[in-house]
Amino acid sequence: MSSWSHRHILDLSTFSLEDFNIVLELANRFKALPKTGTRKLPALQGRLITTLFFEPSTRTRSSFELAAKRLSADVQSFSPNSSSISKGETPIDTALTYIGMGADVLVVRHSSTNVPRQLVQYLEANGSEAAILNAGDGLHSHPSQGLLDLYTLARFFNPKEPLTESIKGKKVVIVGDILHSRVARSNLWALTACGASVALCGPPTLVPQEFEDFVKAPPPGQGQDPIKKRGTITVFRSLKDACKNADAVITLRLQKERMQENLLTDLEQYHNEYGITHENLKWCNKSAPVLHPGPVNRGIELSSALLEDASKCLVSEQVSNGIPIRMSLLYLLATH
Ligand code: NCD
Repeated sequence: MSSWSHRHILDLSTFSLEDFNIVLELANRFKALPKTGTRKLPALQGRLITTLFFEPSTRTRSSFELAAKRLSADVQSFSPNSSSISKGETPIDTALTYIGMGADVLVVRHSSTNVPRQLVQYLEANGSEAAILNAGDGLHSHPSQGLLDLYTLARFFNPKEPLTESIKGKKVVIVGDILHSRVARSNLWALTACGASVALCGPPTLVPQEFEDFVKAPPPGQGQDPIKKRGTITVFRSLKDACKNADAVITLRLQKERMQENLLTDLEQYHNEYGITHENLKWCNKSAPVLHPGPVNRGIELSSALLEDASKCLVSEQVSNGIPIRMSLLYLLATH
């Protein structure tokens, strides 16, 4: 683990193939623990993990908190409703309060990309040891979800050795509201790093053609791309074309709360064209599964029947894999 070099995790565009494999390998070890009769490790005893969620969350927050507890860390959690936010305190000042209490890792979710980034800048300027782990910032990035989706796919394709190599050459369809999805952006950095070819699918209002160039250059302010050769991204308007020879489908929630204007007029038509069902999943390769980060709009992006069919739908696998992935991230940030 000596080659782990990230002080904070804001985005997966900075991850090398080795970084992905460090996380996946560690997650594998944590995932196997219950089989050995061990549920809890003393690894982070005495460390303080703070979850600062300025946006609602069901699974991400509780998954981080459980991951921290499984590593015996102390956990503090912040909730905007009962806090000084209502008295006008800024998110940065709120975060600094928890850093002042000795937080080793702050897991931060905010509707603005600037909040986790500004926190990193502040900590670096002040020589603080605390680490920032982005748990979703605006439309920008959701690294732990990108990693748990990668891990779920790697385990599906190669249960014995679920590392980045298992993803190489696979075709993964991501269908739905790509424009408003930080999950899709993190999926794109992770999947292309491992050499998958990604088919993005949806109407032009939700999947702009420019997404084909999404990973062609590192984000502004970032040096060289740590990945020598990334997989490709191709935009499709027809679900049937996108699914041809596909090995897996990731479908995404329509992010109605983030849509600036009415980008979709007819949800029934959307479901007919882009909703994933048992019938259209058959357009993919034979055993292709469907994934969804949750929360699901049942009957819109995914049919209820498919959501409840665990032989085809990996949603509960994703939730369960989120714990070892987040244990790995907390462990890496709190101990390096
Ligand atoms: C996602 C999020 O909040 O970005 N959910 C999650 O973390 N599992 C996706 C969403 O809101 O649709």
